[in-house]
Amino acid sequence: MTLQNFFEYIDQHKGDCIKRLAEIVAIPSVSAEVGKREDVIRMGVWIKTELERLGAETKRVDPGMQTIDGQEIPYPPVILGSLGNDPNKKTVLVYGHYDVQPALQADGWSTDPFTLTEKDGRLYGRGSTDDKGPVLGWFLMIDAHQKLGLELPVNIKLCFEGMEESGSEGLDEVIEQEAGGWFKDVDCVCISDNYWLGRNKPCLTYGLRGVSYFRIVVTGPGADLHSGVFGGAVHEPMTDLVHLMSKLVTPQGRILIPGLMDEVAALTEEEKATYETLDFSVEDLQSSIGAKNNIHQDVPSILMARWRYPSLSLHGIEGAFYSPGQKTVIPAKVSGKFSIRTVPHMTVDKVTELVCEYVKKEFSKLGSKNQLLVECMHAGRPWMSSPNHWNYVAGAQAVKKVFGVEPDLTREGCSIPVTLTFQEVLNKNVLLLPVGACDDGAHSINEKLNVTNYIEGIKLLGAYCHELATVEKTD
Ligand code: BES
Ligand code: ZN
Repeated sequence: MTLQNFFEYIDQHKGDCIKRLAEIVAIPSVSAEVGKREDVIRMGVWIKTELERLGAETKRVDPGMQTIDGQEIPYPPVILGSLGNDPNKKTVLVYGHYDVQPALQADGWSTDPFTLTEKDGRLYGRGSTDDKGPVLGWFLMIDAHQKLGLELPVNIKLCFEGMEESGSEGLDEVIEQEAGGWFKDVDCVCISDNYWLGRNKPCLTYGLRGVSYFRIVVTGPGADLHSGVFGGAVHEPMTDLVHLMSKLVTPQGRILIPGLMDEVAALTEEEKATYETLDFSVEDLQSSIGAKNNIHQDVPSILMARWRYPSLSLHGIEGAFYSPGQKTVIPAKVSGKFSIRTVPHMTVDKVTELVCEYVKKEFSKLGSKNQLLVECMHAGRPWMSSPNHWNYVAGAQAVKKVFGVEPDLTREGCSIPVTLTFQEVLNKNVLLLPVGACDDGAHSINEKLNVTNYIEGIKLLGAYCHELATVEKTD
């Protein structure tokens, strides 16, 4: 039995692999919605049962209770697994998340988001690419090895959470607790929860931006008011808030908070050169965003804007009137939400300090008698790994085996909060090994995973384990 037999097995069982994915896409494990928490927990139980079916030792850790909108609900469980404990083999820790982003057909999905639908070689469904497809990929890879009687060349530890899309709350504590326990023998970490840079070429990813999430709350009248009766006579919270939010970033994406850009690491010639050789085009970007409204016109500027410079996005206003029709209301209290994607060498404390100071100063210029609150609700730091590490060498060799090409080395603009925790708490190298393509539409409507990305991705995860076994461990 060889790796080649494993590849053939996956090809022959393509239909089954898709069926299994349909089974879990049907569980609407949306972590952000209180009403779906039961489904998230059900998905966690599915993961645990499946691991046990594969013969893994498992452990369910319940991180306690969460309070949302005054309601107490349990956090979804963290499911730990362990397969093999041969001291002569390396041990890889695999992480993934089983929760998904919210999805409503009314948002513009062409198909029911929780019914996996195959069309033109694409598998549409919420979580297909983020992150149920890749998570299931690990299971199917292990299952194929067992069915074939092909020995797994590494010990595998697994860690799956159900709160990633909501900031991975509760997970850091579990990792800290288990560092000397469940994760004791881990040699390296692999996460498959991001995407290829373009549509055709695989990559390995060694950097992520952090994210600091803020809200500005403006409170005024004791209750919502009639604009006909009181308009013109009161300071309106919404007017103050919109004014403040307009002072954060320009339509060209320039952040207006003084001092923020001073924290950003300088661009070296060496780093600059890395943007020249990547398999990416302006059209790839346009295909991912479904429009041509890109700010930058050349590839290096686009990628630098996404990977190595901070960005500030305005997300929404809670308390604002947003229904159809015309309601002549003056909202009494509104909260504006925005976030800043952070990069080396920005620090969480400095970013919070600069933002709060600036917003307060701008508010004081308004001469408003309303009350202001500005706060950071959640912050995760940026992450960088060393792409020369043997873990990356194994990843690159696996890509070569499956796709016949050298992978691009990429960074990402997004965040996976746990990446940094694994690196710092376990002190092990973390490899991001993506399965999906750049136009998969994670978090968006019509999220999909290409059948080829899925099937070749399962092969990739297997090939990676085999390469890990033979690569020289130099730390
Ligand atoms: N899978 C994404 C992260 C991702 C997306 C990495 C695209 C690389 C490319 C993950 O599920 C995610 O969306 N994370 C959140 C984390 C946040 C809630 C702290 C994000 O980046 O918004
Ligand atoms: Zn994800």
